[in-house]
Amino acid sequence: MSMKAETNLQTQPQAIRVRNLLIDPPLLLAPMAGLTHSALRRIMVEFGGVGLLSTEMLSARRLPTENPRISPYLIRTERERPLSYQLLISTHEEVCRAIDALHALKADAVDLNMGCPSLSVGKFGAGAMLAERPDEVRRIVAEARKRTALPLSAKIRLGSGADSGKLKTFCSVLEAEGVDMLTVHARFRDEPFARNPRWSYISEIKECIKIPVIANGGVFSAADAEKCMRVSGADGLMLGRGAAIRPWLFAEIARSVFGADIAETTVSLPDVYAAFIEALNSDYRQVYRLGRLKEFTHYFAKNYKFGHSLASAVQSSGSMEEARERAEKFFANNKADNLSAAGC
Ligand SMILES: Cc1cc2nc3c(=O)[nH]c(=O)nc-3n(C[C@H](O)[C@H](O)[C@H](O)COP(=O)(O)O)c2cc1C
Repeated sequence: MSMKAETNLQTQPQAIRVRNLLIDPPLLLAPMAGLTHSALRRIMVEFGGVGLLSTEMLSARRLPTENPRISPYLIRTERERPLSYQLLISTHEEVCRAIDALHALKADAVDLNMGCPSLSVGKFGAGAMLAERPDEVRRIVAEARKRTALPLSAKIRLGSGADSGKLKTFCSVLEAEGVDMLTVHARFRDEPFARNPRWSYISEIKECIKIPVIANGGVFSAADAEKCMRVSGADGLMLGRGAAIRPWLFAEIARSVFGADIAETTVSLPDVYAAFIEALNSDYRQVYRLGRLKEFTHYFAKNYKFGHSLASAVQSSGSMEEARERAEKFFANNKADNLSAAGC
């Protein structure tokens, strides 16, 4: 390990222990619908630096009936570890069966979605709307805590923005009912992703609870990661879109911010894209492939100056083969001159 890495080890928080799970480095993958499935997770694992992987949000009601061998939400390889499963839940009655299903799937951790602002989720009282039903939140967390000894986390936003006291009370309730770790997406409930994240608000939450707090939102580079850690005072970071654009971002941040001993590698974008296609083609049913390729391409294309033409060429493809051919043609004519991807 280099001198630089030793300095980082002294100044930066390192691994997080949550029950019997060691999150090392303290860098977590964000749950992202349509993106954080096995094909993308495998690529991230190959680059290294991920302390805890995640599924996308999984409907607690439907989970017990999903077939893990063919469900695109549940397909998983041995190397995708440790893996947290995120539950989208609206009542405490859904908890037991969902957690039993996660035990059968050998989940390494369970996360409760309490931050999704989408209206389609909110109309069932789930996601961010749960904060409006504090009694139900208590019952959900208490039920989950009774049912599992796995690390239990919750992911929230900063609330409506009107009342920081209400947000702090909410966080304390989560801790008191047995949540082991809290991830905070540093935006108010109704703020779009284009809005600058409010990392400093996380430091206020840190002051009122003792469990580890993970900062999320707007980290696209090692410089962002360093600043977010400093401003938020968080115990770790969760990366979303930045890691979908650049699946090697974990390795970069782990190395330069957390001093992890990960060798630098040259990234070949066409190879990354080909590996993603290969994973989809080999393990996903045909009906699930093209949509996921289009979703990933929307982010991955941001590595290129003219990435919009890659994204639209793939978007308008009618088959995996057509999408692959169009992407290969694009790669042959375009160099990635924007490897330090900024916002999206
Ligand atoms: C395409 C997409 C899907 C998402 N799906 C989920 C989800 O399933 N569960 C969740 O808690 N958050 C979800 N989010 C929010 C992310 O987990 C994360 O909080 C947000 O993207 C901010 O982090 P970032 O700036 O690093 O992307 C999603 C975000 C995106 C862009």
